[in-house]
Amino acid sequence: MGPFFDLHCHMLCGVDDGAQDQETMFAMLEAAYADGIRAICLTPHFSPYLFGETYEQSEAAFAELQEYVAQHHPDMYLFIGHELGYHSGCLPALEDGRCRTIAGSRYVLVDFPEKVNFFELSNAMNQLRSMGFHTILAHTERYRCLFQHFNWIREYVEEGGIVQINASSFDGAWGTIAKMQWKKLIKEGLVHIISTDAHNLTTRPPKMSVCMDYLRKHCDPETIEMLTWENAWRVVEDRNL
Ligand SMILES: [Fe+2]
Repeated sequence: MGPFFDLHCHMLCGVDDGAQDQETMFAMLEAAYADGIRAICLTPHFSPYLFGETYEQSEAAFAELQEYVAQHHPDMYLFIGHELGYHSGCLPALEDGRCRTIAGSRYVLVDFPEKVNFFELSNAMNQLRSMGFHTILAHTERYRCLFQHFNWIREYVEEGGIVQINASSFDGAWGTIAKMQWKKLIKEGLVHIISTDAHNLTTRPPKMSVCMDYLRKHCDPETIEMLTWENAWRVVEDRNL
C-alpha cells in the first residue's frame, strides 16, 4: 500500500514518550516502511515542562535514523520538526528556533491537551497565525471542545488553517466520540493531512493503512492522495496547500 507520507510521529528515541531506545526507533522505521510509508517528518514533543529541552538529543537521534535509512531504505525521505505542546510562554521558543517548525517551513504542528478550553485553543491558533505561521492542528478529532464548536473548524479551514487527524482514531483508538468526529471531518472535507502520531510498536504503531479501506469507500483517489501524500509534501516544501 502507499506510498504514504507520515507528517507526525514520535520515532526519534529518548526525547519524549515515543521510542525509548535505538532498537525501537529502527524497528518502528521498519514497521512504517512495511506499511507503505516512504516519507516521514519526525515530530518529537516540544513540551519542556514534561520532557525537558531535548533539541540536541533529537538532532543526534535524527542523524542515527538518517544513517540507518541511507543503508537500508534509500527510497525513504526523512524530515524533522517538532510538535508544539502549546503553553503560556512557548512563543519565544518558536521564534528563537528551540521549537522547530516542520522541516524549517512556515508550518507549525500544534498540540493541546484533550480537554483544552475552546477559547484557549482558538486564541492560541489566532496568535500563531498573527505571527506569520501556518498552523497545523494536531489530531483535530480528539479535542472535546471542538465536538461542541464544530463550526470553528470550518472557519479555521476557510482562513487557511490546516487540519491533521490520526489514522488510528478511525477505528476507535481514541474513543467513540473521536471516531465519530474523525468520520465527520472526512465527510465534510475538512481534513488536509492524515498521519500516524506513532509512539511505539504496539499500542500506537506507525500505520497509515488502517484507515485505507474506509477512505477508498468514501473519498475519490485524488483526495486520498492529497490526504496521505501530497499535502504533507507541500508542507515540508513550504508551499501553500
Ligand atoms: Fe504527537
